[in-house]
Amino acid sequence: MPTYALTATVPAARAEDLSAALFDEGATGVEVRDGEVTPMPGQARPAPGEAILVAFFASADEARAAAGALALEGAVEELPDRDWGEAWKEGLSAFSVGRVFVRPSWVEASVPEGSVEVVLDPGMAFGTGTHPTTSLCLGAIGRFLEARPGASVFDVGTGAGLLAIAARKLGASRVVGSDNDPVAVAVAAENGARNGAPGIEWTGADVPAVAGPFDLVVANILANTLVELAPAIAAQVAPGGRLYLSGILLPQEDEVRAAYLAAGLARAGAEERREGEWSLLALERP
Ligand SMILES: C[S@@+](CC[C@H](N)C(=O)[O-])C[C@H]1O[C@@H](n2cnc3c(N)ncnc32)[C@H](O)[C@@H]1O
Repeated sequence: MPTYALTATVPAARAEDLSAALFDEGATGVEVRDGEVTPMPGQARPAPGEAILVAFFASADEARAAAGALALEGAVEELPDRDWGEAWKEGLSAFSVGRVFVRPSWVEASVPEGSVEVVLDPGMAFGTGTHPTTSLCLGAIGRFLEARPGASVFDVGTGAGLLAIAARKLGASRVVGSDNDPVAVAVAAENGARNGAPGIEWTGADVPAVAGPFDLVVANILANTLVELAPAIAAQVAPGGRLYLSGILLPQEDEVRAAYLAAGLARAGAEERREGEWSLLALERP
């Protein structure tokens, strides 16, 4: 059966409400392109303050009726028959960050010499590795483990497990990956097994419940969560240890950094990096 897509540009602040309303009007799926995530090749990025909604329907009539009911001005187009649950995979390919070569499980590619490979299937968890916040972390983990081989690593908010698996493959000793989403913990454990990366501790436990501290803690979560978790995350950094924080937009840097300075860490400014609108903050425990 063909699928019909209704594409409409809406104010970003209303994107979530409208997407829920589209489901109520019979959509089988809704994609929100809000500019926070790098669009797939060929996709338009919404203007600031706007979001693009793409809602999928079983018939063109349903799509038009939903647009009418919600007063959305948008185009309805017929999509060729295919598995839309799998379609997003087409845009992804293997890539390297430092010595880490990340390969989606359905892509064939050979590992560059001197690199370690992480084969990934994100399933329903965040983490194809292509997001700038993730590649900033991958680069930082690589640099840290080169200087301190055998360090212990805690990946807070591990998603599909990429950072924890990469750390293990780059020679970390003890590695823990945690996530408060049980689906992510399951996906990460599967990816760990897929990569022959044994002994990584995957857990849904809260940060303070994980036995630490660690030589390196990495947390790629949104800024407000990082601020909330600052005392707990900072407490997991061992004396002389390092913390990398990602998932932070440039204007949020000061607030997040202040929360960690207040929690007793010091700035490791030389290790900070930026990519596009995203920042990687670096701190250490003296
Ligand atoms: C942006 S993803 C990062 C995934 C992966 N580390 C990466 O870099 O690709 C953030 C992850 O943090 C998890 N998360 C959000 N809040 C959390 C919390 N309070 N404690 C633990 N994990 C959390 C989410 O479920 C999600 O999987």
